[in-house]
Amino acid sequence: MAIPKAQYSLVILFIFFAVSSSQNVCNPACKAKEPFNCDNPHTFNRNGFPENFTFGAATSAYQIEGAAERALNGWDYFTHRYPGKVPDRSSADVACNSTYLYKEDVKLLKELKVQAYRFSIAWSRVLPKGRLVGGIDEKGITYYNNLINELKANGIEPYVTIFHWDVPQTLEDEYGGFLSPRIVEDFKNYAELLFQRFGDRVKFWITLNQPYSLATKGYGDGSYPPGRCTDCEFGGDSGTEPYIAAHHQLLAHAEAVSLYRKIYEV
Ligand SMILES: *[C@@H]1O[C@H](CO)[C@@H](O)[C@H](O)[C@H]1NC(C)=O
Ligand SMILES: *[C@@H]1O[C@H](CO)[C@@H](O)[C@H](O)[C@H]1NC(C)=O
Repeated sequence: MAIPKAQYSLVILFIFFAVSSSQNVCNPACKAKEPFNCDNPHTFNRNGFPENFTFGAATSAYQIEGAAERALNGWDYFTHRYPGKVPDRSSADVACNSTYLYKEDVKLLKELKVQAYRFSIAWSRVLPKGRLVGGIDEKGITYYNNLINELKANGIEPYVTIFHWDVPQTLEDEYGGFLSPRIVEDFKNYAELLFQRFGDRVKFWITLNQPYSLATKGYGDGSYPPGRCTDCEFGGDSGTEPYIAAHHQLLAHAEAVSLYRKIYEV
């Protein structure tokens, strides 16, 4: 059946109204091409998602913060020692300079109209020696307090990744990072510090980002820190170490989750 012209435009108008009256997640400045064309409410809208679906953006500490005002981690060491491992030979010594520019980043998130922001905490920014006995860097704690408060003040829910591959270099030097079972206790203590200091405002926690990648790239082909593999200059054993690193990540995850459920979940 052919739809008369006048009726057709009414249908279009109705759809457009339905889209613009629901929460609009489209940034008008974005001119992305199909299938996410911001100008086309048929392809870019949230009507296909449940009301309670959360839209967000995500980063990791090493990718955005820059290395200022924190102790070294495995990525710093790796990118300085083996610049050729990164195709453009860059490091994240400065990155987006989010250590200083986090307020601008939150402003950008607000412009994007996201409801949530997932970021990771740089372990060595809050525990320079990786372990509680090495002391807490209160400047680092303040940095994340400021970021969390800035997000909350802008109506953006923080989702915190506890570990996104940046092992404090001290722990690599001391006992080989995730190759040692000693990391399990240190990770648990680190996670507990975060629950204690940020748990009043942070209700969504991610223990580990992509544990598979750290195991296979850090210890299988050596393309990520600590750069170990059977034929790697740093040494390694591609047949066993990926499994050991994966095992210790799983144990670390389990300890942190169990501690959270017992004491900090409300
Ligand atoms: C979200 O909404 C969907 C469908 O609308 C529902 O099945 C689901 O239980 C809801 N989830 C939560 C966490 O409320
Ligand atoms: C980072 O941002 C701060 C504040 O704007 C600025 O003073 C500093 O020079 C920047 N650092 C780099 C390396 O660009």
